[in-house]
Amino acid sequence: MNQYFATVARGLEALAAQELAQLGAHKVEPGFCGVAFAGDRTLLYSVNLWARLPFRILVKLHEFPCQDADDLYRGIQTIDWGAYLTPDLTLAVNATGKSAQLNHTHFTALQVKKAVVDQQQDRLGDRSDVELQTPDVQINVHIHQGVCTVSLDSSGKSLHRRGYRPAVGAAPLKESLAAALIQLSGWQPEQMFYDPLCGSGTLPLEASLNALNVAPGLFREQFGFETWLDADLPLLERLMQEAEDSQRDSLSAPIWGSDRDAAVIEQAIANATNCGVLNQVYFAQIDLADVVAPADSGVVICNPPYGERLGKNSDLGAFYKQLGDVLKQRFKGWTAFVLSGNKELAQSIGLKSSQRIAVYNGTLPCQLMKYELY
Ligand SMILES: C[S@@+](CC[C@H](N)C(=O)[O-])C[C@H]1O[C@@H](n2cnc3c(N)ncnc32)[C@H](O)[C@@H]1O
Repeated sequence: MNQYFATVARGLEALAAQELAQLGAHKVEPGFCGVAFAGDRTLLYSVNLWARLPFRILVKLHEFPCQDADDLYRGIQTIDWGAYLTPDLTLAVNATGKSAQLNHTHFTALQVKKAVVDQQQDRLGDRSDVELQTPDVQINVHIHQGVCTVSLDSSGKSLHRRGYRPAVGAAPLKESLAAALIQLSGWQPEQMFYDPLCGSGTLPLEASLNALNVAPGLFREQFGFETWLDADLPLLERLMQEAEDSQRDSLSAPIWGSDRDAAVIEQAIANATNCGVLNQVYFAQIDLADVVAPADSGVVICNPPYGERLGKNSDLGAFYKQLGDVLKQRFKGWTAFVLSGNKELAQSIGLKSSQRIAVYNGTLPCQLMKYELY
């Protein structure tokens, strides 16, 4: 069994651990901004294809005590890089974490690269080129509490970039955070879903991909592991075919998104087209003031503007009050979830939350507030 580490947004470790366990991961252990787990290559490919929450899946190669640049160089050279890298493959090194003497990640990455290519030169008389954008092999080193962990990044581009959303609104949610909010809400595909501030449509689109059992990795051009020496492309093809075969044809309940901005609704429609759900999800240009509940019950999830990212605006307090009024007066029988990174604004909603869940939107601490609307 191989050891893997899924990197996730801060605060989502436990939820991601549940997701990985459901996908068949073994020895699942949530950590800080990530989840360790074990499994075989099929699991690695499946998790890259199916997991909705992680950014990257790292494959652990080695771990050694490391305080300074000499320790690092020696430790990296104990790995037989010929098993992972031939001179015709390009490489890149990403470094995170630090020690007292290795406190510049750029320097750490350069030292790792030097140790790898020096080994290639000594053994083969030739070395790999560095390619920062799309390397064939992406090495990841993490230095923490005097230990260096060396991994290969099997994902390539971050998994939250599903590939269906080239077009984004002014302050789009990461797809992985949208998927996490939907899971945290407890929404089930049999319930109607509505985001009345949908922007480029990330929440309705992630809900529809979930409800239609569409693997989020199906939209990617390539996974990192596809250019590895041990890449098993027939295995990936089989898993992708199985994923396509297991998709559902139609939603059990409607999924809607609306926004007052015509341009972002166009983006949402373009994104829905890209992920093949345009005929399933309904997007409309509606100002919040005119929004009405499209059914007797369902789940509203939205992230209103909160100043930090869309510019300070004294009218935002009034906007949050309006949101609270619309929910209270027109969404009786529904459950609403509002993500906000601003406590004062959140209070302006004027409704009593039954639950508050701490999450991070990038580096911004936020709360997902739950309102039962009677
Ligand atoms: C933070 S963004 C939502 C981003 C979205 N979740 C996404 O992933 O693209 C907030 C959205 O609220 C919309 N909005 C602001 N005031 C509105 C109003 N009065 N009625 C409807 N939508 C409004 C903005 O146009 C913007 O798209």
